[in-house]
Amino acid sequence: MKISKRVSKIAPSVTLEISAKAKALKKEGKDVVAFTAGKPDFNTPEYIIKEAVSALYDGKTKYTPTAGIPELKKAIVEKLKTDNGLLYGVENIVVSSGAKSSLYHAFCAILDEGDEVIIPAPYWITYVEQVALAGGKSIIVKTDKKSGYKLNIDDFERAITPKTRCVLINSPCNPTGVVYSKDELLEIAKVAEKHNIEIISDEVYEKLVFDGEKHVSIASLTPYAKEHTIVINGVSKTYSMTGWRIGYMACPTEVAKAVSAMQGHTTSNACSFAQYASAKAISSASDDLSKMVAEFDKRRKLLYERLNEIDGFKTVYPKGAFYVFVDVSAHFGKSFKGEKILGSVSFAERLLSFGVAVIPGLAFGDDNSVRLAYTVSCQDIQKGVDKIKAFIQSLE
Ligand SMILES: Cc1ncc(COP(=O)(O)O)c(C=O)c1O
Repeated sequence: MKISKRVSKIAPSVTLEISAKAKALKKEGKDVVAFTAGKPDFNTPEYIIKEAVSALYDGKTKYTPTAGIPELKKAIVEKLKTDNGLLYGVENIVVSSGAKSSLYHAFCAILDEGDEVIIPAPYWITYVEQVALAGGKSIIVKTDKKSGYKLNIDDFERAITPKTRCVLINSPCNPTGVVYSKDELLEIAKVAEKHNIEIISDEVYEKLVFDGEKHVSIASLTPYAKEHTIVINGVSKTYSMTGWRIGYMACPTEVAKAVSAMQGHTTSNACSFAQYASAKAISSASDDLSKMVAEFDKRRKLLYERLNEIDGFKTVYPKGAFYVFVDVSAHFGKSFKGEKILGSVSFAERLLSFGVAVIPGLAFGDDNSVRLAYTVSCQDIQKGVDKIKAFIQSLE
């Protein structure tokens, strides 16, 4: 059957390809350390699971309002007020089947054919594919290690054209782990206001910050930013609920109405009992999160320190999320078992054959680097880095 032009343009996911290869090798009995998973390796906390089970037994298994159950929307409103200093009403909240779904609906709601979206690179690849699916055009603004992978405000302003519709901000960032400060976000908000463009702020890693960093929502910084930002968040990363598929957006009422209408005809409501469980997750005080953050912090330091022992590796110290982004380009041009390493994909492929899976930076718009997720134990980090070291030493 013929595939539409719009969909056939979507690039196959490099992330999934490498992850699938790593899985296949493991299945064959090969010893592979996989630094590939973008999901916390912890169980969903017990109190959340219990809430879902109760909801199931209580018959909460039917369609719900498209934009989400009132209990969850109220919990989100309260959370945004307490955690982010953002005052919204329930009419500003749209619950979805994951932040990814909210992002797509956000792009669809505000982009017309050919509208431009400014995306700082390195970026999460999904943004680019979703913008294309929604008929928009991604304008990539490169950032570099020197600036700590943060969007340079002059580069941002220079990228704005009459077709610019919005800028995408992802802090803490996948893949770099970069966390923007309040002042940096304020500068971005001011430029957005000057040029009358919208902001989409992906805040799914907001709770995974280290070294006393504080996550700030750009929407909280100026009246313009509040009126012109679509805040995207969800429960996947914070509560280790990646499979439950609950995300949400907070946005101006007209956007919420438009997105609800779209969801009504695409996904209907998000999973009913997962919504009840998410309401419990968001509104409960529990130490599961702080324990998870402490464990990630330990792994982050270990992985960062160990990677820096390796010849030619260059990293920016990550302050959030659960990734380390490493520039490995010093080794391009060398060979592994007679095969030349030409870029991040061939680096990752050769490394995988040596027993370590990482995601090529090409998937994030930076072919000089690879991404390692510390969603594995400290023991695996030690073993994995030992192998990477041996791999690098074996290059000719
Ligand atoms: C930056 C970023 N945004 C959004 C998501 C999607 O989260 P969800 O599981 O809620 O769809 C991810 C997941 O990897 C992510 O890395």
